[in-house]
Amino acid sequence: MSAFYVTTPIYYVNGEPHAGHAYTTIAADALARYHRLKDNDVFFLTGVDEHGANVHKAAEDAGLTPQNYCDKMTPIFTALWKRLNISHDIFMRTTSNMHKRGAEKFLTALYNSGDVYKGSYEGYYCRPCERFIPEKELTDEKICPIHKLPLEWLEEENYFFKLSKYQDRLLAHIRENPRFIYPESRRNELLSVLDSGLEDISISRSSVSWGISLPFDSEHIVYVWIEALMNYMTALGYETDSERYRTFWPANVHMMAKDITRFHALIWPAMLMATNLPLPKQVVGHGWLTKDGEALSKTRRIFIDIDTDIETYGLDAFRYYLLREFSFGNDGDYRPARLHARYNADLANDLGNLLNRVLGLVNKNFEAIPEPTTSGEFDDEVKAMAQTTVDQLDTHIEAFAFDNALETIWEFVRRINRYVQQTQVWTLAKSETKSRMGTILYNSLEALRIISVLISPFVPDTADKIQKQIGLEEFETATEWGCLPVGIKVSRGEPIFPRIDTKKQKQAQPKAAAKPKQKTEQKTSDLVSFADFQKLDLRVARILAAEPIEGADRLLKLQVDVGTEKRQLVAGIAEHYTPDALIGKQVIIVANLEPATIRNVESQGMILAGSGDAVVLATLEKEMPLGTQVR
Ligand code: MSP
Repeated sequence: MSAFYVTTPIYYVNGEPHAGHAYTTIAADALARYHRLKDNDVFFLTGVDEHGANVHKAAEDAGLTPQNYCDKMTPIFTALWKRLNISHDIFMRTTSNMHKRGAEKFLTALYNSGDVYKGSYEGYYCRPCERFIPEKELTDEKICPIHKLPLEWLEEENYFFKLSKYQDRLLAHIRENPRFIYPESRRNELLSVLDSGLEDISISRSSVSWGISLPFDSEHIVYVWIEALMNYMTALGYETDSERYRTFWPANVHMMAKDITRFHALIWPAMLMATNLPLPKQVVGHGWLTKDGEALSKTRRIFIDIDTDIETYGLDAFRYYLLREFSFGNDGDYRPARLHARYNADLANDLGNLLNRVLGLVNKNFEAIPEPTTSGEFDDEVKAMAQTTVDQLDTHIEAFAFDNALETIWEFVRRINRYVQQTQVWTLAKSETKSRMGTILYNSLEALRIISVLISPFVPDTADKIQKQIGLEEFETATEWGCLPVGIKVSRGEPIFPRIDTKKQKQAQPKAAAKPKQKTEQKTSDLVSFADFQKLDLRVARILAAEPIEGADRLLKLQVDVGTEKRQLVAGIAEHYTPDALIGKQVIIVANLEPATIRNVESQGMILAGSGDAVVLATLEKEMPLGTQVR
């Protein structure tokens, strides 16, 4: 059993938590739960950043003292985490005494390192970022590159930390530890920041009053970012050198979005180097969650209505969608229509129906879970696939590829659906085949038990429901086939994901439902609404293989790579392209078309092509990563 410490950022309390905060926290939760499942000794930290000028201003605007304001805002975060089933071990508040005392101890150590000096500072400051914008990043308009708001000119006497001194050590550390910063693109970004040189940074503010005073000069308040980073250690009991601190520091994973990786991968490690403390093992900066391609913004009223979606589809569908849909390192556009599609296809259809069907057959034909007594076609393949599924998960989780992890589990779900289909198990109730029926149902239920264990980090409530329906009281290992006990009663099986039709989905989205009259008229004249258009999931794919389909002169069977998965498509292009000419081509596919069987061949999507006298495949002007959305 090894220690595993994962953290989220501590979020500013000057606004309510939103989908972006939920995204990081759910991902960190899945990671923490995965490691618990692996029997590691896990410590999962999240919390709030309650100090600084931003919070002070928000309190003033609300007519409250800063402390009262924080006391009012912080429970909104804890309530949301409860609702999202976040399994943190500690919730940090930076106004807590534990943090204050730990921060003072760290600041004293930093001061004693000799790397802190007093100087004056002037420059352009972004209040929402709480940072001076370096000369190199300034534009003529003096606008914050992230918030797009005008910067303020500030002049102050500050304490500085000799960040520049650590440039070479940081460079060496990042080069020698390729996994220190995830993903690769962020690592390269930070390497180029280091190449262009680091400036010392100011670590105190004399103009701010809401924060922790410097232990070596009480006229100054520690800069909120320097204070916040220390929370990762103070939360463990750094102040008293506690057992917990000694067990869990250094952190295994600091998780966040790309906006703040720089603080965590450059400034924080340099502070730790100065105080001779071990560095976190990995800094993970995932992509932004966007809405219609734009950054979420309170001021611009760009937000994701997570309440409606959780109410309509349930929490686990929301968690599943966030973790399955997006490639973690890249930005991802949140679309309720895609959540709807994934709910019906992956959750209701693939998983929910499978469970229902298998339980129904057990109930109809047996008193309790039957004993597996025969062996037949496909049994070994299914058992072997259970093991390969488990084996592949580690690799995906280590790469923060939650999407691939879930896809791998769902390949197994779909395999079990096929197993039920291929064996035609429902036809085996006659006495001479009943033992075969029992074996197939046992195997299917055992597969579902393993699936429930494997999905538990991502959709914990669903995992519990499946276990209960099978009649199990405790989670057993997923690494061993055959743990499912024989002879226990299974439940009747309520659908765990009842199908949700589009009509209901529309009702749940007031904006789509309350359309002005003019729009309805346009609709009847063959126009599609933007919302309808958005339902199409167009993606960049590459053709890996192509072959003719017997007896169908116009059709080709294609295998394509969509980045996260391989698909089989049928396309009516055989008269215009030879199979060889297609291999390696990048194309655009409709990825969320209902699968169809054409001439006995399953087609999971459609390829786009100009189609007139000639047929010419649609492609992008330049190659793009596979799986990129086309809009
Ligand atoms: N208080 C600092 C963090 C200090 S950590 C030592 C801060 N707070 S924040 O409230 O602005 O949170 C930023 C983080 O919230 C991002 O790094 C990310 O984890 C999450 N997200 C906020 N908006 C997001 C998206 N639109 N998409 C994805 N994650 C987002 O910075």
